[in-house]
Amino acid sequence: MKYPELHNFNEMFTPPEAMKYIMPFLDKSLIYWEACYGKGNMARELEKNNFTVVGNENIDCLSDQPKEWDFFITNPPFNGNKKFIKRAIELNKPFAFLIRLEHIGGVEAMRLLKDLDFKIIIPEKRINYITPKMLEGKKVGGSPFHSIWLTYKVELSKQINFM
Ligand SMILES: C[S@@+](CC[C@H](N)C(=O)[O-])C[C@H]1O[C@@H](n2cnc3c(N)ncnc32)[C@H](O)[C@@H]1O
Repeated sequence: MKYPELHNFNEMFTPPEAMKYIMPFLDKSLIYWEACYGKGNMARELEKNNFTVVGNENIDCLSDQPKEWDFFITNPPFNGNKKFIKRAIELNKPFAFLIRLEHIGGVEAMRLLKDLDFKIIIPEKRINYITPKMLEGKKVGGSPFHSIWLTYKVELSKQINFM
């Protein structure tokens, strides 16, 4: 069976390996809002590494936000992810999105990003997300796509950083 048939692309939870590419560049004095909280996988990994995290699965991040936060971080649903990026840009605070590499292509992405001083991290290995099928103990193949961290106001030396 093909990968797209095996997975719901909106419920792909962040594995710890994805976080090691971004955490070295994050300031531990800030409050991180895990905006598309889901089951809390990304939040837990950040907390395990001594970051302060706010958020929960009942906050609709497109219309609401926690009382206090400094940095928008998330792995948004892959379908329609531009609306989440748009929201973060409008909130005008630093952000980091774990998204598919090809999602910075296309007209919608161009309109959002062309005037933004963003930076990206391209991990050398593909990120194998935790999927509902995986959690049911079913066998799944490796990810067929590359992921990146799309960041804004994160201290990175270059605009494109291969790691
Ligand atoms: C790809 S999953 C990632 C979950 C989590 N961020 C992680 O990294 O494991 C995307 C999650 O966004 C949630 N979601 C969808 N629309 C949302 C919204 N408007 N506000 C907050 N969360 C939303 C979905 O329920 C889903 O759990």
